[in-house]
Amino acid sequence: MVSSSGQTALLLAIRGLGKTFGRYVALKTIDLDVHEGEFLSFLGPSGCGKSTLLRIITGLERQSAGTIGQGGRDISALSPAQRGFGILFQSYALFPNLTVRQNVAYGLNGSGRAAEARVAELLEMVGLPDIGGKFPSQLSGGQQQRVALARALAPSPKLLLLDEPLSALDAKVRVHLREQIKDLQRRLGITTIMVTHDQEEALAMADRIVVMNHGTVEQVGTPAEIYGHPASLFVASFVGKMNLVPGQVAGGAFRPHGSTATIAEAQGEGAARLCVRPEDIEVSDAGSGTAARVEGVEFLGAFTRLRLAVPGWGGVVLSADVAARQMRDLAIAPGAAVRITLDPTRLQLLPGGGDA
Ligand SMILES: Nc1ncnc2c1ncn2[C@@H]1O[C@H](COP(=O)(O)OP(=O)(O)OP(=O)(O)O)[C@@H](O)[C@H]1O
Ligand SMILES: [Mg+2]
Repeated sequence: MVSSSGQTALLLAIRGLGKTFGRYVALKTIDLDVHEGEFLSFLGPSGCGKSTLLRIITGLERQSAGTIGQGGRDISALSPAQRGFGILFQSYALFPNLTVRQNVAYGLNGSGRAAEARVAELLEMVGLPDIGGKFPSQLSGGQQQRVALARALAPSPKLLLLDEPLSALDAKVRVHLREQIKDLQRRLGITTIMVTHDQEEALAMADRIVVMNHGTVEQVGTPAEIYGHPASLFVASFVGKMNLVPGQVAGGAFRPHGSTATIAEAQGEGAARLCVRPEDIEVSDAGSGTAARVEGVEFLGAFTRLRLAVPGWGGVVLSADVAARQMRDLAIAPGAAVRITLDPTRLQLLPGGGDA
């Protein structure tokens, strides 16, 4: 939803939110805006606090510090029912003794003709118009999760909260369902927050991704921003495959450790990592470029991932992706000598020398 000023309206304003369990700090001072109509994803490794943050938003858990503002008032004291957000977790959580129709109707206040029509509409919406009379045990995992989604959507909540809704499903169903959920979210325009530890899922579905680590927010941005311009070494190494070349910035240039070669212009001084994606390394079998040796070849279908040792850059080993089409023209096998060129417009330097 866009207001007359061109600004997207704010649905939730999370300010200074913290959560401790005894002496354990699960969330540290989280500040986050949730805009109306957006699909937001909380992404991060296991234990970083994603579910805790989501549960606090639902009202199932109470924060230790900070506020959650909705429409200018703090909703922190409201129960989950009073907040009225739609919730869907990893486990299907359908009532086994109720039919699909009864399960979905449970999410509605009311009965009769209007409720029946609404249930039919919801089942149609999740692509399951014909299974209303079945019981959960008669459905596949993917179908059960879609019924649970229909139930969560039944009262037309202002906010839909999903905690790893796809992680119990097999890979094929998961990809299919993520397209369906994204499609539905866009059509309904419903503000959605989805927790996932699967970066591919977040990149594919979210309008904005909140990357979390150890109870803090590392970066908030669109998938393209997160992937293209990671703000920290953690984000760089957690989202997608990233080569991190350790080295030193001095005299306007970045040089890898153990090398005098300049591979990028750089400002400042000190230890740094050069970040380059595998697809931004150009590989050829002749011509100019830096000499490298093929250490490994991993065929991945649409592309091949090469492991390349670069002696001139202090012996660093890089991953480089070569498209299948280009691979056919190159004579590449383990041990082969190749030349590499880094796309200077796609390089990024991050300060720091330790482990990411
Ligand atoms: N009720 C609780 N009591 C004590 N510690 C808790 C409780 N709930 C969560 N924690 C701890 O808080 C941290 C964050 O947990 P949380 O469930 O939010 O992680 P997560 O990012 O959702 O991880 P996962 O990807 O594994 O689901 C963990 O270290 C967890 O052990
Ligand atoms: Mg979790």
